[in-house]
Amino acid sequence: MPGIIVVGAQWGDEGKGKVIDILTTQAQHVVRAQGGNNAGHTVIIGEEEYKLHLIPSGILHSHTQCYIAAGTVVDPEVLIQEMQGLSARGIILKGRLWISPAAHVIFPYHRILDHLIEESKGDRAIGTTGRGIGPCYADKAQRLGIRVGEFIDKEVFTRVLKSVLQVKNYELTHMYGAPPMDESEILEKYLKYAEILAPFVCDVEDSVNEALEKGAAVLFEGAQGTFLDITTGTYPFVTSANTVAGGLCVGAGVGPTRIDHTLGVIKAYTTRVGNGPLPTEVTEGDIFLDHHRAREYGTTTGRKRRIGWFDAVLARRAVRLNGMDSLAITKLDILDGLDQVKICTGYQIHGKRIETLPSLAEEFEKVLPIYETHPGWNEDTTEVTSWDELPENARKYLERIEVLCKTPISMVSVGPERDRTLILQQIFQPRNQRVSC
Ligand code: IMP
Repeated sequence: MPGIIVVGAQWGDEGKGKVIDILTTQAQHVVRAQGGNNAGHTVIIGEEEYKLHLIPSGILHSHTQCYIAAGTVVDPEVLIQEMQGLSARGIILKGRLWISPAAHVIFPYHRILDHLIEESKGDRAIGTTGRGIGPCYADKAQRLGIRVGEFIDKEVFTRVLKSVLQVKNYELTHMYGAPPMDESEILEKYLKYAEILAPFVCDVEDSVNEALEKGAAVLFEGAQGTFLDITTGTYPFVTSANTVAGGLCVGAGVGPTRIDHTLGVIKAYTTRVGNGPLPTEVTEGDIFLDHHRAREYGTTTGRKRRIGWFDAVLARRAVRLNGMDSLAITKLDILDGLDQVKICTGYQIHGKRIETLPSLAEEFEKVLPIYETHPGWNEDTTEVTSWDELPENARKYLERIEVLCKTPISMVSVGPERDRTLILQQIFQPRNQRVSC
């Protein structure tokens, strides 16, 4: 059985949680490999709704082993709360949830700095989730980070925190005029957290590779989306990790040759939270969906999401940046009942048509979308159970997306529940035996 990557093809919030939840029925191992609790996956199972930020959504299936791998940033306070919330709802974590010693730890000074840096940026503020993600990854790059392995070793943690706090307190007081952080206060609280988390720490990268070598089905659960990638996203309005498929390989310590299918999750329209370009954005008067009915509020921050028509220029680029093998289209039902639906097929800038993204955010802000308009479908798709039952215009809309993205659609989601999903292609399939050495 193969290694499967699931990534968001837009700016996050594509509905990955539900797709991952469905695929997890066939996976034995589920891995989070980048980001932290800036992510938010909502999974609805029967009457129950689960909101997960850090723990892989695979945890909701009792047969899985779940991993928080090296490329992630872990806020112990949030993780422990999430663990307690799941335990209270009867989900067993002992022997199923594993944290890499190489993952970096988010401390209170990261959260404070996240806000202070945003404030100091004025117009250039990113609109971060305020969870300390950027400052934690910045410390990682500056070799000022504290990793889970150090954190759970009392002696090492006490020593490293002392020297790191000297730098952080200098930054807080001299650069931002903020009060310094008290070392003993942090130690008192965080040593307790370390004790709680220590039994969950193991060599995740080794375990995941071993599982792949044994032929187990491993699902790599992407967080955020392609255009929030720090390297290939719409910089500077991005997160601070590599969110594309390659980033998941690095973050999980797995070579790209171990991946058999990369599935891109993409909404039937586009949304974005936070600042930055969104070429197909519609203004108040033209909004084609009801934010409440469409559930277009951020899972992590509760912010109202900005919305726009489907952008095929962006989608095509996402296919390339991730090497996507197929697409899962989500929230098709939200477009039910519209007279017309639009797809952006190119951009206009400086009087010229372009079919790719300008690399500068300043230029990207200026592009005007060029639309194709298609007739809508005046039928309810939420009860549809097969491709053939979809309204003809909905099928044509999806087929057009396949052509424009040069990628087949393997799943279509028509409602938040598990069973409101059309499976057009089985993603988990046994692969040819690898040659063993
Ligand atoms: P940060 O990740 O908190 O630093 O935020 C950087 C940008 O990424 C902001 O525009 C956030 O709104 C956005 N962002 C981060 N995580 C997510 C996510 O899971 N979904 C959607 N947007 C996100």
